[in-house]
Amino acid sequence: MAPVRVTFNLQAEQKKMVFAIADVLSNMRPAVLLTLRGQNTDSGSICREASFEGISRELADVSLVCSRLIKTDMELEVLRYTNRISSEAHKMVMKHVKPGQTEYEMESLFQHYCYSKGGMRHTSYTCICGTGHNSSVLHYGHAGAPNDKLIMDGDMCLFDMGGEYYCYSSDITCSFPANGKFTSDQRAIYEAVFKSSRAVMAAIKPGVKWTDMHRLADRVHLEELVKIGILNGRVEDMVKVHIGAVFMPHGLGHLLGIDVHDVGGYPEGVKRIDEPGLKSLRMGRLVQERMVLTVEPGIYFINHLLDQALANPAQSCFINKDVLTRFRGFGGVRIEDDIAVTADGIELLTCVPRTVEEIEAFMADSGKTFSPVVSSEKF
Ligand code: GLY
Ligand code: MN
Ligand code: MN
Repeated sequence: MAPVRVTFNLQAEQKKMVFAIADVLSNMRPAVLLTLRGQNTDSGSICREASFEGISRELADVSLVCSRLIKTDMELEVLRYTNRISSEAHKMVMKHVKPGQTEYEMESLFQHYCYSKGGMRHTSYTCICGTGHNSSVLHYGHAGAPNDKLIMDGDMCLFDMGGEYYCYSSDITCSFPANGKFTSDQRAIYEAVFKSSRAVMAAIKPGVKWTDMHRLADRVHLEELVKIGILNGRVEDMVKVHIGAVFMPHGLGHLLGIDVHDVGGYPEGVKRIDEPGLKSLRMGRLVQERMVLTVEPGIYFINHLLDQALANPAQSCFINKDVLTRFRGFGGVRIEDDIAVTADGIELLTCVPRTVEEIEAFMADSGKTFSPVVSSEKF
């Protein structure tokens, strides 16, 4: 489909705003003026509101942060578009990945598809193309680790990449084996994460607490890690000592929009929950219709977190050390989809092969057509 063209009808006075904002605003007399203020809950930095001579408090009483929480129809259209093109770009990468290539070749293929097929000149963040052990490095791909490892047979790939269009983001992670065929351990971990992803998606609707969705994902992971044999004991007891965060040390997901980690996750006065895992959650609100969020559970085998847990008697008593040893060097699995909240559930914006069977069939088929996988999932 051709790129959506968004045209900005700049009036003469609006052009003048660049030079004389105060003059123009006083002539235009808008009913309301949206300004940006708030704290970046990652950095702690305060964004100060625009202020100039003549601005009145009555005009600036609606914060732009609040308006960015809830998407308009037009914003949803653009976010559907960023997701559709980025999903296709991920699929193109999955078709081409082979042991012997470098991670950055995959980054470059993704960017090329987004720009050449979708007019998406930028990505929403630096591409994360972790393979093998690197798939457990949460923000791999930065300048200090620029996706430069050779992809090996047997590696898991964790590719977290999203194209941007007219400043609107997408944020999608696909995890799959480089050689196209899951080992039994890779399948077990992948299916544990898939189960938590879909349990969360089935539970999301307006009014639910996002912190509860994070706890739900953790609980499913613990149940599945018990079945795999890495953990043993009662899940209730593991929750009390935060074992979930040993394997998923990040938050379940975040608001998405003009920023990939969009603003407004915590209203004034609401603090992050000071518990492992939950303290990294970028959204502490109730879910509302027209919010756009990522759902991105993951299970990772991160050596220093595993060592810490093994050194902590309150946690190590739940860990089967022999089985865990087998997973050292495994890397990690994340499944990240973007969703829009509807009146009674969600609309899944991301459309890539997701089950083990879909992934294996898709990667085995060497056809070069990238017709969208039509998701049979209904929420
Ligand atoms: N790509 C960054 C994130 O998933 O939040
Ligand atoms: Mn991501
Ligand atoms: Mn994300």
